[in-house]
Amino acid sequence: MDGNGRWATRRGLPRAAGHAAGAEAVRPIVTRCAQLGLDALTLYSFSTENWARAADEIDALMSLYVQYLVSERPLFLENNVRLVQIGRRDGLPPAVLDELDRSVEMTASHTGLTLNLAINYGSRAEITDAVRGLCQDAADGRIDPGAVDESAIADRLYTAGQPDPDLLIRTAGEMRLSNYLLWQISYAELYVADVCWPDFGPGELDAAFEAFRRRRRKFGAVAEDSGPVCPDRV
Ligand code: IPE
Ligand code: MG
Repeated sequence: MDGNGRWATRRGLPRAAGHAAGAEAVRPIVTRCAQLGLDALTLYSFSTENWARAADEIDALMSLYVQYLVSERPLFLENNVRLVQIGRRDGLPPAVLDELDRSVEMTASHTGLTLNLAINYGSRAEITDAVRGLCQDAADGRIDPGAVDESAIADRLYTAGQPDPDLLIRTAGEMRLSNYLLWQISYAELYVADVCWPDFGPGELDAAFEAFRRRRRKFGAVAEDSGPVCPDRV
């Protein structure tokens, strides 16, 4: 969800106003994904690298999480959305963790959309933690190192048990992965929207899905039909 800062700066507003507008933009997207029957939506909202920002911006973001997690509970309840946090807990303020835990617990039995909220998330940290856990289990004799396969690693990630993403959407025109779900997106289709996140609405989401529908996914194999490759980019 990139571009909150630019959205605000272009309007002569403080960056925090961009984050508030960005939080507002989440509701229609979650609603649309839930109504379409998607398995999962993962929102990259705060990375392990975002701690490098100014303290007042971080404080504004943390206050927004507390507000958002409380204000969006009816949305999660009405739409059968299950909330999951992906990311490290260490470093997050207790008020954020409390509201996060409350929302996760309240929605744990929901069977619709899984909403993975990436807070304090970094893909390299996630993979490092997974590898460390596997090494510890091997050192303690709980697993045979020779038996470590791809699924053993996937099962140690925050997204254990969830399908890999089919589509990765990045807003604000940036062509970077920014340490996001590096293991999980191996075969995801990439889609870059030029609009900043606060302007990314259901219409933009539908355009991304439409582009996705036109992609031919080969997963390393050879495509069966001879149609044009990625016609949305020609
Ligand atoms: C995304 O918007 C929100 C967070 C990373 C928390 P940015 O804050 O990165 O917005 P830009 O990139 O400065 O426009
Ligand atoms: Mg940014």
